[in-house]
Amino acid sequence: MGVLVDAEGIVADYVVKTGRVQALKGVDVMIEAGEAVCLFGASGSGKSTLLNVLAGLDVPDAGRLRVCGEDMLSLSDVQRTALRLRSIGMVFQDNNLVAQFTAVENVELILRCQGVGSPRRGAAELLAALGVADLADRYPADMSGGQRQRVGIARALAGQRAVILCDEPTGALDRANSELLFGLLRDLAHSYGIGVLVATHDRLAERYADRVLEICDGQLVAS
Ligand SMILES: Nc1ncnc2c1ncn2[C@@H]1O[C@H](COP(=O)(O)OP(=O)(O)O)[C@@H](O)[C@H]1O
Ligand SMILES: [Mg+2]
Repeated sequence: MGVLVDAEGIVADYVVKTGRVQALKGVDVMIEAGEAVCLFGASGSGKSTLLNVLAGLDVPDAGRLRVCGEDMLSLSDVQRTALRLRSIGMVFQDNNLVAQFTAVENVELILRCQGVGSPRRGAAELLAALGVADLADRYPADMSGGQRQRVGIARALAGQRAVILCDEPTGALDRANSELLFGLLRDLAHSYGIGVLVATHDRLAERYADRVLEICDGQLVAS
């Protein structure tokens, strides 16, 4: 499949006491299979709002959105959630791994929810693909921030999702680990044909992206 995410004219408002805040003012985004795209923007520029819309977590006030060939905005809530679980993995600054579960159990949980056969083996394979096979039996509290993010990415990929949306994935990492993570996300896009979108205010990310989008005050600008 070529184009995985195709958004056009996305407008999103928040209603606040004093009126409305227009967080997105007509944004177009396209993500193709096998590319790592960086969405760069300062705090408050609209990155998280855009990712939440692309993931189907928020419904925009206007615009068009196709994900994996389906018209996301014409689906019912149930259908939209199903499309998201099937197609889109999300990675956040703090991945909220389940503290009582080991790395392999955290990934396995998602595979079980998806009804995938041999979930334990699938989870172990995903951890291996992310270079953290040796952490399989470790609990999140006993991992570094970078290791937790790798496990979080393994979990986001579970079930062969086509798209990974990352919201400030390196927000809690030092420079060296940030570079490793950005490189890893790019390699995943290239090796597995996943569409990766990384929202960040860290300029480092641009070096590891196939394409850079820049958002400023709810609008994409030339970067
Ligand atoms: N829940 C909310 N209620 C009201 N305004 C919000 C809410 N979330 C975000 N905003 C506003 O929308 C704009 C974009 O925010 P956001 O998408 O979080 O930006 P970023 O992720 O780039 O920091 C900002 O002006 C922010 O204050
Ligand atoms: Mg944000």
